Parts: sequence; structure tokens; C-alpha cells
Amino acid sequence: MRKKIMLLGSGELGKEVVIALQRLGQYVIAVDSYENAPAMQVAHEYEVINMLDGADLDRIVAHHEPDIIVPEVESIRTENLYKYEDQGIHVVPSAKAANFTMNRKAIRDLAFKDLSIRTAKYKYAKSLRELKEGVDFCGLPCVVKPLMSSSGKGQSIIKSLSDVEHAWDYAIKGSRGDLREVIIEEFISFEYEITLLTLTQNNSKTLFCPPIGHRQERGDYQESWQPMNMNQALLIEAQNMAEKVTNSLVGAGIWGVEFFIAKDGVYFSELSPRPHDTGMVTLANTQNYNEFELHARAILGIPVNEITLLKNGASAVVLANKKNNHWPVFTGLDKASEITETDFKIFGKPNTHPYRRMAVALAYGDEPVEALVEKAKSVAREIIID
Ligand SMILES: Nc1ncnc2c1ncn2[C@@H]1O[C@H](COP(=O)(O)OP(=O)(O)OP(=O)(O)O)[C@@H](O)[C@H]1O
Ligand SMILES: [Mg+2]
Repeated sequence: MRKKIMLLGSGELGKEVVIALQRLGQYVIAVDSYENAPAMQVAHEYEVINMLDGADLDRIVAHHEPDIIVPEVESIRTENLYKYEDQGIHVVPSAKAANFTMNRKAIRDLAFKDLSIRTAKYKYAKSLRELKEGVDFCGLPCVVKPLMSSSGKGQSIIKSLSDVEHAWDYAIKGSRGDLREVIIEEFISFEYEITLLTLTQNNSKTLFCPPIGHRQERGDYQESWQPMNMNQALLIEAQNMAEKVTNSLVGAGIWGVEFFIAKDGVYFSELSPRPHDTGMVTLANTQNYNEFELHARAILGIPVNEITLLKNGASAVVLANKKNNHWPVFTGLDKASEITETDFKIFGKPNTHPYRRMAVALAYGDEPVEALVEKAKSVAREIIID
């Protein structure tokens, strides 16, 4: 039963995956591009490499011969994962899932063209001229994003035609790798957005966590809450879409499927074939298993029969504000702890930069989620990083 598991990406989400796997008796090698990444601090071994470098990936996979590879970030040379799968290594949830979600184009075309799932209107552009055509097609306002980026990098809203040039330059600058292509999307003025954590299993049925609501700023989530109280018919529609996409990408694991809920219905936005940052709210023990434990079970083929909501919860991020603060000191934890039915997790990142997520504050209980969000924010405010 003891498997050798290689985790590609060692941030705070990876760290929780390692903890969950360790609690099931597994052996983990954590990989990332810098020393002392959070997951490395709780793994058996670690490697520091550039995961976009295929040769370097090949080298560590050949060296460690893992049974299972668990991608925890998008920026991996995902083409190589197909090769590892052919060699008999279990890639989580699948090489296809990691490869298709690395680039916005593959996943968007799969959803809209192949699976007929409703998305915002969209077009791609490889030049400023094509961008202008795309803007004409999508209408104003619209959103421009590099095909390869995350956390809102390079993303901007075009409100008038005078924004087009800036949007192009900004997207190209924020693009990962050397890909000079962007997606233009119709702006959806949604009423709220949700993450639907979806659990696919090898020998058991697909399950859904109660929906998570969240608020984004600068491309990163600021607060999330569970459950998002929403219309049951809309939730079922989102669940059906999530089941279709995850079925098509194949494999077992937890998926963070993102939707916009507008007056006129549900729009699929994107998905991550791994735990989702907004799902950190489940660290408040809102469910019988948190999203990392669900992922670990799916990876190991341990069936989960049901996912139940135990209590309401909220999370609020704790951000750094200084540049290059090495092993920052956290104070105010005593004050934060005075707020009842709350908790916090400190990720142990070795360095800060402005807006870097360093910890998460949690609140739980029977209160409405709106009140829990305020509580989690109060905890986050008490925590000082210096
Ligand atoms: N077409 C759109 N209409 C309205 N809002 C949008 C649209 N696309 C993105 N947004 C807003 O921007 C946020 C980030 O967008 P998206 O999830 O596509 O980017 P991302 O950089 O991949 O983020 P992450 O990887 O951190 O989830 C969304 O959660 C939503 O709040
Ligand atoms: Mg997103």
C-alpha cells in the first residue's frame, strides 16, 4: 500500500496534500523551483528544479522512479506526463487533465466546442490586429488574458477601444513561457461565482462538495465561504457541466471547477485538476474530509461514499506587504486566537513579496457565511507579518 509519490509543485496547497498523504502512510518527494517551499518542509525528500524544463523533469523521474506523480501547479512541462503515463506511472488525475488545463485554449475548446458547455463568448488573438477583431466579436466590456498565466497575471478588462493596445502589451508581458497568444472573453456581469469541488473516483461515483463562494481581487481570491447558498436547479446544472468536463479529462482526484452564476444562468469558466485555493475553506473542517484528504483518497483509490457538510465556514487570506523579507516573523497570533471558533494556518514560505499569500484565516460554526467571512477577516487583520 505504501506508494512513492512525486508532488510537482510545493506551495501551501501541496503542503496540505502531503500532510493528507502522510496520514495515509505514503512516501512523498516534493518538487518545486525554490528551496524550503511549504510542501518540502513536510515531505520525505525534495528536489529543486525548473519544472518547465523537460530534461530536468525526466532526470528526477528516472532517479526516483515514483509510482504516482501529482501535479500541483500549472507550470510544468506537461507534455512529458504522457510519456510517464506510458511508462506505467500513475499521473493524477491524468496526463490529459494536466496538459489540457495548462493552456486556456485546450480546456476552453474542449468545454465549448466538444462538450457544448456554455461559456462566455470568446476568441483568440496572436496579434494586436486579431485582438481588435476579437474585441469586435465579444463586445465591450471584455476580458483579455494570456493563454498561459494564473492568478490574474496579464489579465485586464477592456472598457473602451483606447484600452486595446495596453491590454495586448500587458497580456504579453504577463504571459508564461514564450507563447504570444491571448484569449478575449465577453465580460460576464455575474451575480456571484463559485468553485465546485468535484471528486472523481476510480471505483466509485463522482461526488460534489457543497459549493464554495469567493471574492477575487487583483486576480487572487481574498475570501471564500461554504456553502454558497444558491438555487438548486443552477447547482445541478453546474454539477452536470463539472461531471462532463472531468469525465472527458479522465482520472481520479479532486477538481476545482469554476463557474459564473449570472441572471441568465450558469457559465463554465475554467478548472484545476487538483485542490483549489478557494477550497482552503475546507481546512475549517466544514466537511467530513477536507479537499486535500479527498484528493489523497482518490489518488490512492480509497473510496469516499459521501461528502457531508458538517458546519458553515469561511476563509480569508493573509498577505505579505514587504518585499524580500526572509523567514518573516508572525505576530498578533495571541489576539487572533481570542476570536472564538476561528483558526489560522501559516504556510511557512521562506520569503515575502507584496500581496504574497502567507497564511489563511478560518472561521466556522452555525452562523450565516456572511458573518463567518467577517470573522475570518478579523482574524486575518490581527496577524502581522514582519
Ligand atoms: N469573462 C469574465 N467575465 C467576468 N469576470 C471574469 C471573466 N473572466 C475572469 N473573470 C474574473 O477574474 C477572475 C480570474 O479569472 P480566471 O479564473 O480566468 O483567471 P486565472 O488567472 O486563471 O485565475 P486562477 O488561476 O487564480 O483561478 C475570475 O475568478 C473572475 O472573478
Ligand atoms: Mg480562476
